[in-house]
Amino acid sequence: MSQTLAIIKPDAVAAGKCGRILAHLEAAGFTVRALRMTRLSPEQAGAFYAVHRDRPFYGSLVAFMTSGPCVPVILEADDAVTKLRRTIGATDPAEAEEGTVRRLYAESKERNAIHASDSDENAAAERAFFFSTQEQIGL
Ligand code: CMP
Repeated sequence: MSQTLAIIKPDAVAAGKCGRILAHLEAAGFTVRALRMTRLSPEQAGAFYAVHRDRPFYGSLVAFMTSGPCVPVILEADDAVTKLRRTIGATDPAEAEEGTVRRLYAESKERNAIHASDSDENAAAERAFFFSTQEQIGL
């Protein structure tokens, strides 16, 4: 078993899709190990997406991610990073496969409902970004 981090993004939270997305992930075989709701500050969103700071969409992405509450979740499964990325689909919902979270629930390439870590290394860093050690090991 391994763990990864998902963030149900502000578009999906505002649209009341949080429960359906969590149910989809559980039905796909993930176990929720930690979960909270938070609203990112511009500094936090900027730091989380620092890898994209030179991209043209960076300012807009930070504005979107700070526009309302989001729900970070630690998910566990066999090969969790790869499995979650397959389950959520391509960044752009128009390109995401049928039945994926983004195809079902995302609005656009930016407002795309959910984030997922892209490597085990980044998953560990992103879990620590949102959750204390105690929260990560389960209360
Ligand atoms: P995420 O998986 O969280 O990683 C980076 C985010 O940047 C991505 O999901 C989208 O929300 C956003 N993003 C990526 N590419 C674009 C783009 N071309 N235009 C606007 N937003 C983008």
